[in-house]
Amino acid sequence: MKQFTSVNDIADINQLVEAAIALKNDPYSDQQLGKNKTLGLVFLNPSLRTRLSTQKAALNLGMNVMVMNMDKEGWALETQDGMVMNGSTVEHIREAAAVMGQYCDILGLRSFPKLKDREEDYSEDFFNKFIKYCGVPVVSLESATRHPLQSLADLVTIRETWKGAAKPKVVLAWAPHVKALPQAVPNSFAEWMCKAQQEGLVDFTIAHPAGFELNEDFTPGAAITHNLEEALTGADYVYVKNWSSYQDYGKVLPFPEGWMLTHEHLKVSNDAKVMHCLPVRRDLELSSEVLDGPHSLVIHEAGNRLWAAQAVLKDLLQSLS
Ligand code: CP
Repeated sequence: MKQFTSVNDIADINQLVEAAIALKNDPYSDQQLGKNKTLGLVFLNPSLRTRLSTQKAALNLGMNVMVMNMDKEGWALETQDGMVMNGSTVEHIREAAAVMGQYCDILGLRSFPKLKDREEDYSEDFFNKFIKYCGVPVVSLESATRHPLQSLADLVTIRETWKGAAKPKVVLAWAPHVKALPQAVPNSFAEWMCKAQQEGLVDFTIAHPAGFELNEDFTPGAAITHNLEEALTGADYVYVKNWSSYQDYGKVLPFPEGWMLTHEHLKVSNDAKVMHCLPVRRDLELSSEVLDGPHSLVIHEAGNRLWAAQAVLKDLLQSLS
């Protein structure tokens, strides 16, 4: 693997999932692999899980880690070419990314969408320029449109908890929120589940109210419904997540009642396990009774962020040498 920005960067998702599970059982066997190698983690937005799990993954591999909170501690970056920089930006991404590449063997980057201009966000202009100018392998810590480390951890969680003979029915279920949230997590989850479905690993359904359709580039082969009960019938896993409208981009739209998952919803399921990437707003996105109850996998899932990150960093380190 040369970079990790989407499922398309991986030759074999099953192999990567198995590698993550192997590392969970034997975390410190590759300490020599990362010796004298440095990971730089660059954040333009807040993080708890991604920051700590990726840092710990690098330490398990014997790497040095540096964290840069670019939004608070770095110079204001210019991304446009041909600008006379006489405004608020202080440093161009051409120099900033190239300099970080001088200090690090691998770089991780988190950069959320601005949710103002859909074409700009979906062009991943900032991410692509960072990759172009830094000159070292880049791991996405969540971009404007994808969160692949989260999706890998999600697939690992399904893989290690599924005990059934047939493939599981996995449902991505839209949830309410008061703010306009990015589509990165649901896009990425859908993209990974569609790939897993193609490989015969899962059956995948997406449920959302009308007006919250995802960009269809991320949902090839998924069953899509506006009926939550229909989607949850026979479900083995329910992945709860809010996202804002792709069509009415950046807007907070009114939504129908009944989309916050409760125990009542789960009665039609196959005793489904419930997942969420976290952070979660209790009793807005997901009921406390589900979060605190036996269906919830959210802490297990967050724990698997470590092994997902370690599997990806290990693969990238092997490609360096
Ligand atoms: N799920 C996730 O990426 O969490 P953080 O935003 O806290 O890193």
